[in-house]
Amino acid sequence: MHDNDERLLCQLDELPDGGSRGLLRKELDDQLCVVRQGNEVFVWLNDCPHEHRPLEYRQDRFLSGDGQHIVCYAHSAHFDLRTGYCFAGPCTGQSLRKVPARVEDGAVWIPATLPTIFD
Ligand code: FES
Repeated sequence: MHDNDERLLCQLDELPDGGSRGLLRKELDDQLCVVRQGNEVFVWLNDCPHEHRPLEYRQDRFLSGDGQHIVCYAHSAHFDLRTGYCFAGPCTGQSLRKVPARVEDGAVWIPATLPTIFD
C-alpha cells in the first residue's frame, strides 16, 4: 500500500542493476539521480553541492567507471552512492540531497513532493 503523499517513480526493472538513471525530466535536465544496487534504490536530487549543476556526464551516466561511486562530471566530486556524502573533490564534506525511496512489489515510490535544494 502507498499513501497519497507518494508517487510512483518507476518500476525496479527499469533501472539497471549496479547502474544509474536520470529521471523526472524538467526542461533539459533530469531532476533525479537514481542508483540501483540489487533490490535497493538510492535517489538523489541531481544537483551537485559544489556549483549546483547536474551531475551526469551524459544521460543516465552518474557513476564512476567501476560503478562504486557517484561522480560529478564538472569538477570530479566523488559521492558515496548510499549516503550521498562527498568524500573527494571540491565539495568534500557536503552531501547530495536525498529523496527517500521505497521499493514495494517491484515498484519504486518517492514522496509526492521533492526536497528543495536549499532545505
Ligand atoms: S559542479 Fe560538481 S564538482 Fe563542481
